[in-house]
Amino acid sequence: MDMTSAAAAPAKTDQATTSSVKSSNTKISGIKAPDIKAANAKTLGVKAPGATARPGRSAAPPAEPESLPESPSATRRGPAAAPTAPIAPTAPIAPTMMALRAHSRGGPEKLVRERVPRPVPAAGEALVKVRAAAITFAELGWDLSWTRLDGSDRTPVIPAHEVSGLVAELGPGARGVAVGDAVYGLVDFDRDGAAAEYVTVWAGDLARRPRTVDDAEAAALPLAALTAFQALVDHAVLAPGERALVLGGAGGVGVYGVQVAAGLGAWVAATGSAADAEFVRALGAHEFFDYTTDDLERSGAQFDVVLDAAGATELERVYPLVRPGGRLVTLAAPPPAEDADHHGVAVIFFIVRPDHDQLAHLARLVDEGRIRPVVARTFPLAEGRAAFESATGPRLPGKTVLTVG
Ligand SMILES: NC(=O)c1ccc[n+]([C@@H]2O[C@H](COP(=O)([O-])OP(=O)(O)OC[C@H]3O[C@@H](n4cnc5c(N)ncnc54)[C@H](OP(=O)(O)O)[C@@H]3O)[C@@H](O)[C@H]2O)c1
Repeated sequence: MDMTSAAAAPAKTDQATTSSVKSSNTKISGIKAPDIKAANAKTLGVKAPGATARPGRSAAPPAEPESLPESPSATRRGPAAAPTAPIAPTAPIAPTMMALRAHSRGGPEKLVRERVPRPVPAAGEALVKVRAAAITFAELGWDLSWTRLDGSDRTPVIPAHEVSGLVAELGPGARGVAVGDAVYGLVDFDRDGAAAEYVTVWAGDLARRPRTVDDAEAAALPLAALTAFQALVDHAVLAPGERALVLGGAGGVGVYGVQVAAGLGAWVAATGSAADAEFVRALGAHEFFDYTTDDLERSGAQFDVVLDAAGATELERVYPLVRPGGRLVTLAAPPPAEDADHHGVAVIFFIVRPDHDQLAHLARLVDEGRIRPVVARTFPLAEGRAAFESATGPRLPGKTVLTVG
């Protein structure tokens, strides 16, 4: 997928491409992946089975959600085996809402704030009253932002796929959360996002939001932190003591890439603009390189794992930074398969997926002070277009968030 251009964007959200001399799921440098996961489990409190055994969308249900012990266990998508009646909201919810929408493909100029029908939760879904929603600057260029999974057009669309808010209503059979729960989550890319007063989400994809941060900070986590976590834990299987490089360490994903890599016990270097150097070091980077200079490429440094969270990086310049047999995780587009063979490294491309267990785990890490949400800037929903347009101006580290409720 080329997440920077609509043409090459993904057809599915459940997708991982691994081109490698040695698959990241097999033996790498004499260390078996499960062994590394066990080591990770010790350092960042990663639950190794959860990290390895997260089911696909239609596979068996995941383990019972740990963070919601009072709730029933099912987090499976779609109608549950024994549907329960919808839970009535305590007060009627208006049938319309304000939302940011685009009626045709394009950039921020297509976004309009307007009154639209409020979504109604279908079987297995929760209606969430949005308090805050984070945007990803590149998302208007992703094919899935405009289509259903079958590729058909679904305009008009609502952007922003990271949400923090309150469960307002449950569809039939929705389990794992209750009306009134303060939750956060990643909204699937092939459906309307959270730049609105309400959004419907698969209930099993939601988790209790961290208690110690506000809604804007909670909304800055789901897509970006899950991407970093899945990249480094599930795909790169980063081990304690390894050398990791995060390209774009001050970006929406990069700020979590640095923190997760450091939390896993890796030695971490990051790239970014010079102005962000101190901030990124404070997140856990041991070394920082200004990407506007060539000092990293000239240094001859090599890393066990490179996470390319910079977006438009030329991969030809990245391969020499990966040690022979090392792992490169790239997020913008799947590279040609022959690249990996040519350079003798494992190259992994994947698309982040919602994951209740990982979100619950991230919430715990945030509440323990081990992961810090990073909000670059907030905009009210009414200024949603300006929020997307701010990509081209001076940027602060982290995510840009729309405040709603
Ligand atoms: N596959 C997936 O599931 C997935 C999920 C999320 C995101 N993504 C993709 O991941 C990429 C990053 O997303 P994001 O939301 O984190 O973007 P972002 O917030 O715009 O961050 C990008 C960061 O990279 C820096 N940067 C730009 N050019 C660079 C270069 N040549 N070398 C090093 N750093 C550079 C930027 O710094 P300055 O602002 O200082 O230039 C910025 O801090 C995008 O391509 C996005 O589409 C993919």
